Amino acid sequence: MSLARVKNTFERWGTMDPMYAVLSVKEFKHNQGDSNKFFQLGREEIDGVMAYLENLGQTVPRGKALDFGCGLGRLSQALADHFSEVEGVDIAESMVTAARSYNKHGHRVQYRVNVVDHLQCFSDDSFDFIYSNITLQHIPPEASTNYIREFTRILRPNGVAIFQVPSGTSHAPGSLGAMVYRVYRHHLRPFLKRLRGKHPVEIHYVPRSIVSEIVDQAGCTMVDVLKLDRHRREDSFRYCFSK
Ligand SMILES: C[S@@+](CC[C@H](N)C(=O)[O-])C[C@H]1O[C@@H](n2cnc3c(N)ncnc32)[C@H](O)[C@@H]1O
Repeated sequence: MSLARVKNTFERWGTMDPMYAVLSVKEFKHNQGDSNKFFQLGREEIDGVMAYLENLGQTVPRGKALDFGCGLGRLSQALADHFSEVEGVDIAESMVTAARSYNKHGHRVQYRVNVVDHLQCFSDDSFDFIYSNITLQHIPPEASTNYIREFTRILRPNGVAIFQVPSGTSHAPGSLGAMVYRVYRHHLRPFLKRLRGKHPVEIHYVPRSIVSEIVDQAGCTMVDVLKLDRHRREDSFRYCFSK
């Protein structure tokens, strides 16, 4: 499927206000943010992920990691503290160009642009660890499910993948609340943003049952599914599977 709309949106954001496009909080708006703070938040996130893996009793080989939807490399840079090589992949050239300018790890961290709905640029069993946060939610499910399938293919045996994607709205399926929220989130809000000259990012869902099915069908093992609290109106999960 074509991802041109998603690419255009993030190319624009990557040029206009990239830190805010990645972390939509006021302190990073209008290119005002402190990049040290921005990358510190990435280190804190990845340190938390490593502690989570340890709690789960998952020993991940520390060879090569993938950061899917790397943006400015906030998480790729942090992954380089734990893995000997990191690949950051993003759909937006503008993000990747900026990510390269922030790289502090030389050739150990590589960034690449990938505009297609698969990861054929990587061969089978390429990565010990795959991480993706606040990215799959911006991709239509026809493509995001392809990427999840690709994660199962490019993960090495004994490797672990962790990724976040919302499953749906937190309203009961079929309820009035769900209908109203859907119209607001997917139609009214983007329309109002466009009227104000802004470039709304899309939000998409992949039901939890579909994610589990993809992982099972690939012969991988779902190790843990964590419901994330910070998303108030969406039921968002962080999945951890091993191969
Ligand atoms: C909200 S940002 C998050 C960046 C990074 N994961 C972080 O947390 O710092 C989402 C990123 O996903 C990228 N993205 C969106 N669709 C993508 C796709 N199909 N393939 C790769 N990257 C994609 C966007 O360009 C953007 O840089």
